[in-house]
Amino acid sequence: MLQILENFSLKNFNTFGIDASAKYFVEINNENELEELFMDPQWLQMDRLILGGGSNMLFVKNFDGLVIRMNIRGIEHRINHEEVFIEAGAGEVWNDLVNFCVDRGYAGIENLSLIPGSVGASPIQNIGAYGVELKDVFRSCRAFEIATGQFKTFTKENCRFGYRDSIFKNELKEQYIIVSVKFMLSIIPNINLKYGAIEQELANRNITGPTIKDVSRVVSHIRVSKLPDPSTIGNAGSFFKNPVISDAEFRQVQSRFSEVVHYPAGDGLVKLAAGWLIEQCGWKGKVVGHTGTWMNQALVLVNHGGATGEEVYSLSSQIIDSVYTKFGVLLEREVNIIN
Ligand code: FAD
Ligand code: EPU
Repeated sequence: MLQILENFSLKNFNTFGIDASAKYFVEINNENELEELFMDPQWLQMDRLILGGGSNMLFVKNFDGLVIRMNIRGIEHRINHEEVFIEAGAGEVWNDLVNFCVDRGYAGIENLSLIPGSVGASPIQNIGAYGVELKDVFRSCRAFEIATGQFKTFTKENCRFGYRDSIFKNELKEQYIIVSVKFMLSIIPNINLKYGAIEQELANRNITGPTIKDVSRVVSHIRVSKLPDPSTIGNAGSFFKNPVISDAEFRQVQSRFSEVVHYPAGDGLVKLAAGWLIEQCGWKGKVVGHTGTWMNQALVLVNHGGATGEEVYSLSSQIIDSVYTKFGVLLEREVNIIN
């Protein structure tokens, strides 16, 4: 029997630690429970929010609808020659899956170590870090279509993955609930050291032929040195995307700011480091009321304790304005704003 809770506090269910509440809250432990939930038309008509680990959300106000927390567990793995097929439930913790794979020598997601959140949310923004994106290992996901009550499989092509983007953030926004994800990894490691900081840290440790365990450890070390730990200081990782602009726009910015940090983004596009743009505007480490930006990474907005969602949102608007005024570049929020 499904347990639907009323006026439920979400404070411990979002890594920003915002004290918001949900009018209704339900936890889903298997596919049948999803079907059962939507047999009742009242939930079909109500505003809904799918919740994983709440590590990429900002509650600007209380949620006046039904929060569906995905808790479907289970990891299955099968090796065929050198390929490893993995299927994981949406409610598995992403980093537990990474550890499960790294411990068994299944290579492919070690660069994605220590990203908070759930497996089910990983395709939503095509999580990425340190030279790897989810799409590099993703095979398909199974999702429940809320309107029809049917389960559907999405292949990699169906998902239209992009930088911090997928079909689930666009055309299909809030229409499907991901219940499980399939990945293809390998027992032959293809060590990815594209991100300079990994090589640097391996050298510091005198590691010459790194294993995937070494990569996982080094990535975790770099992340801990830069990013605040949500268990002690509320945050949702990068608050904005790194802006991708045309080559022509880039040349204009570069002519005025020759040191602008940038990376080629293919097809005549250039990606700028949003953290650099924000730092140049004087925001790095700044405390504004109960909020601010992180001292080691200006792209991360933090809750210094007791911040409201409005305060964090208002700070993000001020940052967008000042970056636009100085550089003519418009920052886009990466965190999902719930209002
Ligand atoms: P939630 O925050 O609960 O949800 C995020 C979105 O996905 C919402 O729109 C929600 O409705 C939807 N959603 C969640 N589960 C499902 C489901 N089962 N079906 C359908 N929709 C669903 N991200 C990166 O990409 N790279 C990083 O390096 C990175 N570093 C981070 C570091 C820190 C310290 C923090 C706090 C966050 C970081 N993030 C990073 C962001 C975050 O970890 C990812 O976006 C993660 O995938 C969010 O997972 P979640 O389960 O917490 O999702
Ligand atoms: N920089 C600054 N000042 C800052 C922060 C960054 O000048 O305060 C410059 C530096 O030159 C630095 C460069 O920006 O070398 C890049 O910084 P970093 O390596 O920290 O990466 P990022 O571009 O800021 C992105 C992702 C992170 C991901 C890392 C590692 C986005 C929006 N963010 O950050 O993802 O972990 O790369 O791959 O793409 C997240 O999505 O929540 C997240 C943390």
